Amino acid sequence: METKTNIIDLESIRKDFPILTRKVNGKPLIYFDNGATSQKPQAVIAAIEKYYTLENSNIHRGIHTLSQEATEAYEAARNTVQHFLNAEHSKEIIFTSGTTGSLNLLASSIGKKHINQGDEIIISTMEHHSNIVPWQMLCEEKGAILKVVPINDKGEFLMNEFENLLSDKTKLVSVTHVSNTLGTINPVKEIIAKAHQKGALVIIDGAQAVPHTKVDVRNLDCDFYVFSAHKMLGPTGVGILYGKESLLNDLPPYQGGGDMIKTVTFEKTTYNELPHKFEAGTPNIAGGIGLAAAIDYMNKIGVDKIEAHEHELLSYATKEIKQIEGIRIIGEANNKASVLSFLVDGTHPSDIGMIIDKLGIAIRTGHHCTEPLMDRFDIPGTARASFAFYNTIEEIDTFIHALKRAIKMLL
Ligand code: ALA
Repeated sequence: METKTNIIDLESIRKDFPILTRKVNGKPLIYFDNGATSQKPQAVIAAIEKYYTLENSNIHRGIHTLSQEATEAYEAARNTVQHFLNAEHSKEIIFTSGTTGSLNLLASSIGKKHINQGDEIIISTMEHHSNIVPWQMLCEEKGAILKVVPINDKGEFLMNEFENLLSDKTKLVSVTHVSNTLGTINPVKEIIAKAHQKGALVIIDGAQAVPHTKVDVRNLDCDFYVFSAHKMLGPTGVGILYGKESLLNDLPPYQGGGDMIKTVTFEKTTYNELPHKFEAGTPNIAGGIGLAAAIDYMNKIGVDKIEAHEHELLSYATKEIKQIEGIRIIGEANNKASVLSFLVDGTHPSDIGMIIDKLGIAIRTGHHCTEPLMDRFDIPGTARASFAFYNTIEEIDTFIHALKRAIKMLL
């Protein structure tokens, strides 16, 4: 039996994640629900604790020492995100409540500025609901038209169909970098280039990409890139909207309130500079600081090593699961991140999920907030194991063994 991939020092890494030592239902926890949210290393927990213990104060508002320290820590976090994405300026980094918050901000602001009746917005079949519903709401409001790029049976984006959908009416393309349900890694650089040839703006949903792969927004040349902290070792309730400076400057603010204004009178309000124009109200300060700690932690390990180890986990798990009779993998793209969605003939995914939970193994079951994608495959849902770099080959062996036991019980 193969026991480790040797790409990263798993023994020492696992010690950094306190939750990985706990038991669930009397068994050592095997956490394969990283697509839903990742676990948090001690460094992130400690950064948040330090902020609330020693630095807690409001930012951008106080002349006292604590407020200045909190402001410095928050703005340093913004710089960390800037370097993580290779953005040109830190003012291109907007803190939001998460991917969903970022996409709703864009739907509102881009909608007001750029979308009119008859305009077209393109998404793909494999989008998360958060990259479908805000555009449907906008289309309904403006009389715009939503177009959807189909996928093949392996779960791959069909580039020629995309090219056929692109036209002078296309104002916006919003697609996922990595599918949360299929694991498909989309050729986003090519998608962006083709959309730009038609003059369309491009948003990339990077929620499932940033935890697993290096993202360089300047190399991609995307107009906007969005993600959440909690899927990449950071806390919940905080995320990022990256946007090119000139485009962000051009958009109207999303929410009104404190911090996003320059001057307010009852007659007229003028808006603050970037990034504050899009950050109304007291933000999730501890969340931003926690996200920066998560990025520091990932950089210390090396995103390339994280990606390589996860790739080994995926290949091994795919090879092993395929040997089980009646298994159907949903999502077999050539270029795939560490997500393994599957069905077992004659069983329901939630029964499998419940049985293996009793053995300490956490996977997700259901439609994964991608109902139209489920319709595409004509299935109600899947069981999904999603791996992170702190997972091991031994855990996959235990999972496969548990899965076989569950199938035996159910059939
Ligand atoms: N979007 C998250 C998932 O894929 C919650 O599970």
